[in-house]
Order: sequence, then structure tokens, then C-alpha cells
Amino acid sequence: MIRPRRNRKSETVRSMVRETTVSVNDLIYPLFLVDGKEIADPILSLPGQNRWSVDMVLHELESCVKLGINSFVLFPGLDDSLKDADASYSYNDRNFYLKAISTIKKEFPNCCLISDVAMDPYSSDGHDGLVLDGKILNDETLPILAKMAVAQADAGIDIVGPSDMMDGRVEYIREELDAHGHEEVSIMSYTAKYASAFYGPFRDALDSAPKSGDKKSYQMDPGNKYEAIREAELDESEGADFLMVKPALCYLDIIHMLKKDFNIPIAAYNVSGEYAMLKAAAQNGWLDYNTSMQEMLLSIKRAGADVILTYAAKEFAILNK
Ligand code: PBG
Repeated sequence: MIRPRRNRKSETVRSMVRETTVSVNDLIYPLFLVDGKEIADPILSLPGQNRWSVDMVLHELESCVKLGINSFVLFPGLDDSLKDADASYSYNDRNFYLKAISTIKKEFPNCCLISDVAMDPYSSDGHDGLVLDGKILNDETLPILAKMAVAQADAGIDIVGPSDMMDGRVEYIREELDAHGHEEVSIMSYTAKYASAFYGPFRDALDSAPKSGDKKSYQMDPGNKYEAIREAELDESEGADFLMVKPALCYLDIIHMLKKDFNIPIAAYNVSGEYAMLKAAAQNGWLDYNTSMQEMLLSIKRAGADVILTYAAKEFAILNK
């Protein structure tokens, strides 16, 4: 009799035939940065995550590096007084986020640092692009994104991460990076970023929710699958080095499809709401956090992700050291 159960008879056999495993090398840890000193401000809707001042984040980075996590995506949290309609603080010399990138890169030269390129953390409108009469302007936004990307590259970023979903931004940013001598800076493009409800805790963390309207005129419609191929073809032809799908869990089919169709590394963003829902269920005693978290990461990897941006990166590393 043919018995598939024979290959499940012991942990040794199971681990021998396991098709997919997750390693710390696959993980990118998102960190939230704020201006100031000695700040480790817990984010209520993201239990276990903090807003860090740069002096404090250096300790956090050190403990992560010891656990084998070497890649980080950095997000800035700004006071409202620094926000304006054209996100001018994003490329200002005094920008604490740019200084933080330089400091971290100096202290941890072997780490891979990834930025966020979008207007929303800096915009008084809370949108990823310039707003005029309630409309999000595409082509007028591109030079701002490119200035932001070049400023981050000047500060020492390894990979810029355009998360704004404006048309043509990968090409525009690539050309400007190259024109400024940053040929080696990579682009991890948020290729298929959906207009998702799962970004809620992130917007709380950075106070970056749109002041009016929503993001549906630039982020993708959750009903669309084949449109992701169109976005991916454009990003590939414009010079993206990574194609990202975001969120991850409700979009495993998209990850799977892009992995099959493209020969560029596929990144998946296991977003704030996906992390928060496991945490909330675990806090209620309804799920076991450690096993459900690892099963979640495994599912994203099995779907085809080469790298996963996840708030659980450090917890995973601690469990698997
Ligand atoms: C904004 C940006 C968002 C996230 C990363 N970059 C939120 C948004 O589009 O409103 C979400 C990440 C998360 O939820 O963990 N440019």
C-alpha cells in the first residue's frame, strides 16, 4: 500500500523531506525612527515594536545582528510641524532620518539598510503623492520622490524602497540615482501594493493616515490579480532589483504568480495588521503566537517569496538561534 504517512513518521524524516524552510537570512526587520534621544516608545497597536531614537536603535540593531538579522527597513515618524504639502523635509539636510541612516551605516557597515520612498510620512495631506484639489498628482510627484531617494543614497542607504505606487517612479528614480553617482544603490519596488485595511497599525505608528480621501487611486484594487503582472512588467523594465507584493497573507496568490513569471527576487511585506492580528489573538489566549507566527512566515516563503519584511523577524531569530 502506498502510505504518504511513512514520510511523516519522525521529526528527522519530516525535516529531511520538508520542501520549504525559513531562515533569518530571508527576513528584513522594519524599524520606526523618531527624532530625539533615549526614546523607545512602544507602539500600542504593534505589541513588541517601538519608535526609536537613533541612540536607542543602535542597541536594538546590535542585538538583532547578534541573532543573525542583518537587513532592516527604516521608517521615519515625524512631528506634524515638520510636514508640508510637498514633503520638503524628506530631502532637507537637517532631516533626522537621513542622519540616522548615516549613523547606522557607520556603526553597522555590513548591514543592509532599506529606505521608504513616499511622501506620506512628510506630507501634511498624508498622501503618498502631491495633492491638488483632492487629486493625487502623478508626474509632479516624481521629482520629489527622486530627490528623497538621492538624499537617502547620499546618506548611505543600500536599497531604496519606493512604496508610493506612482506610475513611472522606478525609471525616474533609477535615472536620478545614476545621474548622482549612485549606480550601486538598488531599488526594491513596492510593485503590487494593494489598497489594504491591513496597514492600520502602521499608520497609527507614524500618524501617517490620509487627512482626507483614501489611497485607492494609486494603490491596487484587492480584486485584481493580472494587473499585478502589468505592474511587475513595468517595474522590471524600469530597472527594479526586487519586486514586492504587499500585504502578504491575503495576497499569497500574487506572490506565487510573480515568482513564476519573473526572474527578479520577490519580496513580500508581512504588514502591520497581519502581525497585530496574531498578537491580539495570542493575547486573548486564542492562538499560540510562536507556532502560528512561524507557520505564517512559512506560508509566505512557500508561496514564492525570496525575502520577507516582517515585524516578527527578531522573535523568529530568537526562537531559531
Ligand atoms: C506608506 C507605507 C505604508 C506601509 C509601508 N509604507 C502604509 C500606507 O501605504 O498607508 C505599510 C506597512 C505596514 O502596514 O506594515 N508609504
